[in-house]
Amino acid sequence: MVKVSNNLLGLLNIATFLISIPILAGGIWLSRQANTECEQFLEKPVIALGVFVMVVSLAGLIGSCCRVTWLLWVYLLVMFLLIVLLFSFTIFAFVVTNKGAGEALSGRGYKEYRLGDYSHWLQKRVNNNWGRIGSCLQDSKICQKLIDDGSNTAANDFYKGHLSALQSGCCKPSNDCNFEYVSPTNWTKTPTSSLTNQDCVTWSNDPKTLCYSCQSCKAGLLDNIKTDWKKVAIINIIFLIFLIIVYSVGCCAFRNNREDNSWKRYP
Ligand SMILES: *[C@@H]1O[C@H](CO)[C@@H](O)[C@H](O)[C@H]1NC(C)=O
Repeated sequence: MVKVSNNLLGLLNIATFLISIPILAGGIWLSRQANTECEQFLEKPVIALGVFVMVVSLAGLIGSCCRVTWLLWVYLLVMFLLIVLLFSFTIFAFVVTNKGAGEALSGRGYKEYRLGDYSHWLQKRVNNNWGRIGSCLQDSKICQKLIDDGSNTAANDFYKGHLSALQSGCCKPSNDCNFEYVSPTNWTKTPTSSLTNQDCVTWSNDPKTLCYSCQSCKAGLLDNIKTDWKKVAIINIIFLIFLIIVYSVGCCAFRNNREDNSWKRYP
């Protein structure tokens, strides 16, 4: 029994060590992906988690193989904290990403995005970092395709076409502005145009400005972040179940180590 749980713990820790490699790789991939280069507050925690899991599984591996009781102690404590932390983060991610979705409009192939629909926490994060994120979006190529298509796109084709959340939020004026279509990124104000939405005032036909400072652009970004976080939260749940199994085996190995040692001490 002693050997079984110790060996099993060793094996499971090799597995967690191997798992930490894709977590790390995932974090690095997230930081390099073109579309998410403006969401850089997401991948740092993932990279940190990968490094953390790697160190913890090494401690567990050495603790169980070499029968180092104090290392197993530290390992179990850190593992417990990791489970609590991951559990809290998963709940948090679900709560934060629960609110907000694009709004479908009749006769439009794309959705419209409103900042007020998303969780207050996310709104605050994106508002506080908008200087950096906004200029990052401006440098990115999200609106380039629409600018290049230019007047080749008839109004009806544009209305029926699909736009990503960022394109809908940042590259065209909001639907309630009622602007007249010239090209996807060129709209004229008419007497019937509404300016009650602040975004309608912020809009400019200048390709460098467009709607990059609009609330709808922030909402489009939040919609992307929401989708990413949902995926991360689901992966977290799978990982959490695995960690709880490893933790239970770790507890078993720890108890066995102690019994082993007391046997030696009191024959
Ligand atoms: C928008 O279209 C109008 C009318 O065709 C044109 O005069 C104007 O130069 C265009 N603006 C931009 C920024 O392309």
